[in-house]
Amino acid sequence: MRTKSTIRNPDLAEKGWRKIEWVADKMDILNEILKEHKDSKPLAGKQVVICLHLEAKTAYLAYVISQLGADVAIAGSNPLSTQDDVAAGLAAQGITVHSWYNSTPTEYKEHLNKVLNAEPDLIIDDGGDLVEMLHQTRKELLPNIIGGAEETTTGIHRLEAMEADGSLAFPMMAVNDAKSKSLFDNRYGTGQSVWDGIMRTTNLVVAGKTVVVAGYGWCGKGVAMRAKGLGARVIVTEIDPVKASEAWMDGFAVMPMEAAAKKGDFLITVTGCKDVIAEKHLKVMKDGAVLANAGHFDLEVSKPALNKLAVEVSEARENIKRFKLEDGRQLYLLAEGRLVNLAAADGHPAEIMDMTFALQLSSLLYLIENPNLDAQVYNIPDDIDQMVAEYKLKSLGIEIDQLTQAQKNYLNSWTNQ
Ligand code: NAI
Repeated sequence: MRTKSTIRNPDLAEKGWRKIEWVADKMDILNEILKEHKDSKPLAGKQVVICLHLEAKTAYLAYVISQLGADVAIAGSNPLSTQDDVAAGLAAQGITVHSWYNSTPTEYKEHLNKVLNAEPDLIIDDGGDLVEMLHQTRKELLPNIIGGAEETTTGIHRLEAMEADGSLAFPMMAVNDAKSKSLFDNRYGTGQSVWDGIMRTTNLVVAGKTVVVAGYGWCGKGVAMRAKGLGARVIVTEIDPVKASEAWMDGFAVMPMEAAAKKGDFLITVTGCKDVIAEKHLKVMKDGAVLANAGHFDLEVSKPALNKLAVEVSEARENIKRFKLEDGRQLYLLAEGRLVNLAAADGHPAEIMDMTFALQLSSLLYLIENPNLDAQVYNIPDDIDQMVAEYKLKSLGIEIDQLTQAQKNYLNSWTNQ
C-alpha cells in the first residue's frame, strides 16, 4: 500500500539522488544480487518495511529491494541520522519515506507507526525499535509478518531477550552476527566513520592526543585501531577480562574509566551499555575534553549528569554542545551523544555497507524461500556468509587458493575419526 511520504523538503530530491547514485556505483555485491534476481522479481507482491539510518547506502538498499518487486516503506532508526536530501531523493523514486532529520521523540514514533501502516510482510530493523512497536502497540500486524532481519548488536540483544521470554512473534535473522558483517562493518566501518565524524565536526588534531575508547568489542577494536593509526595514545576501558587482555596484547593501555577519564582528550563510548561515562567521571575530566558516543543509544555518556554539572550550556559549533562547569572547565559533547558516525557524518563507507546490505537482502530472500521458520533468532546461514565474502573478493579482483581433493581428504580424515 503506497502512501504519501512524510519528508522535510521534496526540493532536495536531486541532491539526494546524486548521493545515492554515488554509493550505488560502489556497492558491487548488492548490484550482483540485483542483476541475478531482477528478472524473476522474488519480492513481487511483498510489502517490506525498513527502519535503518536513512543515509545514501540505506536508500540504495531500499531502492534495490523495490527493484526486486517489493513495495517499500522506510523510516530512520535514529532521530539524528536521517539525511533530508537522501529521504527526498528516495521518495522521488516512488518509495514511501516517513522520516526527517532531528525528529522529536513523538515524531520519531509517528514515523515508525506510519511505515507500519503499510502492513509489512517482511521487516528490516536496526536496534529493535520497529520490532518493539510491532509487539507492543501494533500487535494486529503480527500475523501477517513472515520475518525480518536485525542490523546491530543492541537489536540482537533485545531480540534474544524476547526469544528467551517467549514473546518474539516471528523469525528474525541476526545479520549483525554474520562474519561478513561484524568483522567488517562493526570493526572497519565504525573504526573509520567514527573518526570521520569526530574530525569533520571538531576540526581538531588527533595525533599526540590521548583517546579513551570504552568497550573493546568489534566496534571498539576498530575505533581504537584507527585512533592509533592517527597517532593518538590510546586507552581502552572494559568490563570483560578477556576483551581487556586482548586490548592490552594489541598494545593499548587498559584501566578503569575513573582513571582514564582524567587523561582523555577524546573519550568515545561504544559498549551498548548505559552511563559508561557518568557524573563521577565528568568531575575529573580535563578541560576541553571531547565526548562522543558510537553505541546504539544515547545513554552511554550521561546527559543528565552533564546537564546537572553544567552552569552554562551552549552550542560551540554545529553538532558540538559546550558544557561549562562551575570550576571553569569546559566539556564538549558531539551530536547529542548519539551515534557520532551517523549523526555527525555519513556512516560507514559504501564498500562496507555493501557487505552488510547484501546480507540484509539475502536474509529477506532466505525468509521468502523458507516461510515456515519458527519465531526465534536465526544465524545467517554459512553459505550466505560465504557468498558475500566471495562476491567481495571478486569485486576486489582477488583470488584465493582452493583445497585439492587430497587436502580435503586429509582434513576429512580428522573429522571422521
Ligand atoms: P560487542 O558486544 O562486540 O562489544 C561491546 C563491548 O563493550 C564488550 O566487549 C563489552 O564487554 C564492553 N562493555 C560493556 N559495558 C561496558 C562498560 N560499562 N564499560 C566498558 N566496556 C563495556 O558490541 P559491538 O558490536 O562492538 O557494538 C557496540 C555498540 O555499538 C552496540 O550498541 C551496537 O549496536 C553499536 N553499533 C554501532 C555502530 C555504529 O555505526 N556506530 C555499528 C555497529 C554497532
